[in-house]
Amino acid sequence: MSGPTVLIVDDERTLARSIKTFLTESGYEAEVAGDAEKALELLESFRPDVIFADVRLPGMGGIELLQHIRDFDSSIPVIIMTAYGSIEGAVEAVKLGAFDYLKKPVDLEELKLLADRARETSLLKQELSYYRGREARKLPFAGMIGESPAIRAIMEQARQIAALDDTPPVLITGETGTGKGLVAHTIHASGPRSSKPFIEVNCTALPASLMEAELFGHERGAFTDAKQSKIGLFEAAERGFIFLDEIGDTELPLQGKLLRAIEERMVRRVGGIRDRKIDVRILAATNRDLEREAQAGTFRRDLYFRLAVILLRLPPLRDRGDDVLLLADDFMRRYSAKYGKDVKRMTTAARDAMLAYTWPGNVRELSHVIERAVLWSQGGVLEAEQLSLSNMDATAMRVSTGNTGAAASAGNGSAQTDSSADPGTPIAPPGALPPRGTDLAQWEKSMIEQALREANGNQTQAAQRLGVSRDTLRYRLKKFGIQ
Ligand SMILES: Nc1ncnc2c1ncn2[C@@H]1O[C@H](COP(=O)(O)OP(=O)(O)OP(=O)(O)O)[C@@H](O)[C@H]1O
Ligand SMILES: [Mg+2]
Repeated sequence: MSGPTVLIVDDERTLARSIKTFLTESGYEAEVAGDAEKALELLESFRPDVIFADVRLPGMGGIELLQHIRDFDSSIPVIIMTAYGSIEGAVEAVKLGAFDYLKKPVDLEELKLLADRARETSLLKQELSYYRGREARKLPFAGMIGESPAIRAIMEQARQIAALDDTPPVLITGETGTGKGLVAHTIHASGPRSSKPFIEVNCTALPASLMEAELFGHERGAFTDAKQSKIGLFEAAERGFIFLDEIGDTELPLQGKLLRAIEERMVRRVGGIRDRKIDVRILAATNRDLEREAQAGTFRRDLYFRLAVILLRLPPLRDRGDDVLLLADDFMRRYSAKYGKDVKRMTTAARDAMLAYTWPGNVRELSHVIERAVLWSQGGVLEAEQLSLSNMDATAMRVSTGNTGAAASAGNGSAQTDSSADPGTPIAPPGALPPRGTDLAQWEKSMIEQALREANGNQTQAAQRLGVSRDTLRYRLKKFGIQ
């Protein structure tokens, strides 16, 4: 089965059949019902995307049918067909929620355009309701910054991928905060599908059972709360992108379903019996070493290989040389403007400290560090102390022993664990407080954010690392507005 589905409700058999043939040739899948009762039966089994119904039918009429369809699923667009001259019925139908009306004798081209438009509008509506349901993610700064060879190579690859309309899935790996999300957004924003949806799914956010319904949609009655059928995110992303963030955290049964969606470009709603064809590009990201997990059997090998046909490995910030300074300058300018400050430069000591620091939180951490420093700055120059880099001591040792850091980790995409911070050791506060004092609450907030990052968002682990109970952590997350 394939293509969007159309149900034609008309007792004029010849007409209904010719509409069916025409739509089938145009890539639709069409079905005919001779009366309203048959149409209502087909709602369940055929799940039409668009319905054409004659206003005059034997038994229950078109208008009453329209009301039943709207009770069943108000998102299905219904087009009422009327005989030439009887426009009143059509106007009433539109008032009652019909998508549009079509005059008989039917012009097949016009009918098809109407079907296309109805389908497009209903997809758009569903997308909109999805977007309304969550705050649209705003990128603080558009564009990727970096001159290091590894980053330049990634940007070039991303450009090439973006230019193509149809490529295999892309897997973006790298430690937390290295810019995986930014790369995914950039691929979408700079390609031919930029005006189409970009739907971001955080695979850790929901338990697997809910995740399936969220991704693939569900039919009415599929489970107790399913009063209405609901489109899934794959369908909502039609002709655009779906970005499966933290893909490494999906559970095995769901991995199988994802593989099928990717390979066959089909999805089936929970509780549904019909496969729906999708035209969606897939991006995925993870900060875990999926290759190793695939070998160990904790992540499906076939899914890994399917996803990793195009693999973009983002190196950690500590391996990007002077990019740290380029990024820091850019953040400094932007945060200066944002907070109405006049910070223009950094001392050499501040620059050296940034080059020597290991940046376990990568670019995100750098952005926070500069934001904090700019916010508290009093003059036009940022000093090393104002950066409050927390593992200065460890860094000094790393530099003095000539260890150049985790170059190997950039090559194998392994994450997090390469960070020089020993998870068992508490992070030492800076030796001296900044001259103008510090903000304890801000400090606490950064610590919590760091603990969460290092625990990959796992609150129980983060709480353990901070030496507080989970409830305390929850309370503080709320207090500081940390997501
Ligand atoms: N090369 C870059 N140039 C400019 N900004 C960047 C760059 N890389 C990352 N950023 C910024 O750093 C922040 C973190 O990046 P992003 O959210 O993309 O990281 P991530 O790898 O997805 O992290 P996580 O694994 O925690 O989800 C974002 O605000 C992003 O815009
Ligand atoms: Mg991300």
